[in-house]
Amino acid sequence: MNQLAFDEETGRQLEQLYRIGDSVRRRHFVRSALSAAPGERVLDVGCGPGFYCAELAEDVGTEGSVVGVDASPQMLALAARRCEGLGNVAFHQTEASSLRVEDASFDAAICVQVLEYVPDVNAVLAGICAALGQGGRVVVWDVDWATVSWHSLHPDRMARVLRTWDEHLAHPSLPRTLGPELRAAGFEQVEMQPHSFASATFDPDTYGVALIPLVKSFVSGRGAVTEQEADEWAAEQEMLGGQGEYFFSCTQFCCTATRPAG
Ligand SMILES: C[S@@+](CC[C@H](N)C(=O)[O-])C[C@H]1O[C@@H](n2cnc3c(N)ncnc32)[C@H](O)[C@@H]1O
Repeated sequence: MNQLAFDEETGRQLEQLYRIGDSVRRRHFVRSALSAAPGERVLDVGCGPGFYCAELAEDVGTEGSVVGVDASPQMLALAARRCEGLGNVAFHQTEASSLRVEDASFDAAICVQVLEYVPDVNAVLAGICAALGQGGRVVVWDVDWATVSWHSLHPDRMARVLRTWDEHLAHPSLPRTLGPELRAAGFEQVEMQPHSFASATFDPDTYGVALIPLVKSFVSGRGAVTEQEADEWAAEQEMLGGQGEYFFSCTQFCCTATRPAG
């Protein structure tokens, strides 16, 4: 079954998703964990529409620089538009598992919700480790989709929708193995911080509500979910929201690690 395609339509949906309050909160967690300082060179692997690149460009200032890489030309076009006029940001089209950047040329790197899509996690992490100078820091963020708890009056349909949604990526529960993967790729001082994204109200500023159109369009007519069922699933969430009965929760993980100093 095909994974989610990072094409123009997904780009349009992600542009909306990344504007909501929960996404702003997530970027705050990532930027705090990275603590990029003025003058630093930062690599964003799987930069998507470039929200992080634009914000990190402020953190590192004009003496520093940010390089965003992504496999998708559509995502890179959105990122370039977002960072237009920022002289300290550059973008390259690159497959994350065969990163083509100069060794030891970065002080820090981020890889936010990208590894879960890439079959060869070790290749990406080893490439990031090589791209960092000694003592360089990385922040890796991924979602454990098995932690999703989502209320429905039709639990069988919800289970099928979530099982089908799991096909949108390569590793539905990547955080479970991320620590050992980071150490195997050469990192040390590996730490992991869980963050809960939960909502008991139908608030469009929350991750669970903003995710509904993405899940609906991916599962619709795929596997065990018909188009009609996908429509009814999404409509039910809105109905529950209107009755004050909406509930969504999932746990996302922020991993920090460093390349050994020598
Ligand atoms: C969910 S988006 C996250 C975007 C960005 N990191 C953020 O959090 O704002 C995943 C991104 O990873 C990119 N991606 C997925 N697989 C990739 C691969 N194998 N190599 C490079 N980029 C990849 C996609 O094109 C997409 O832009």
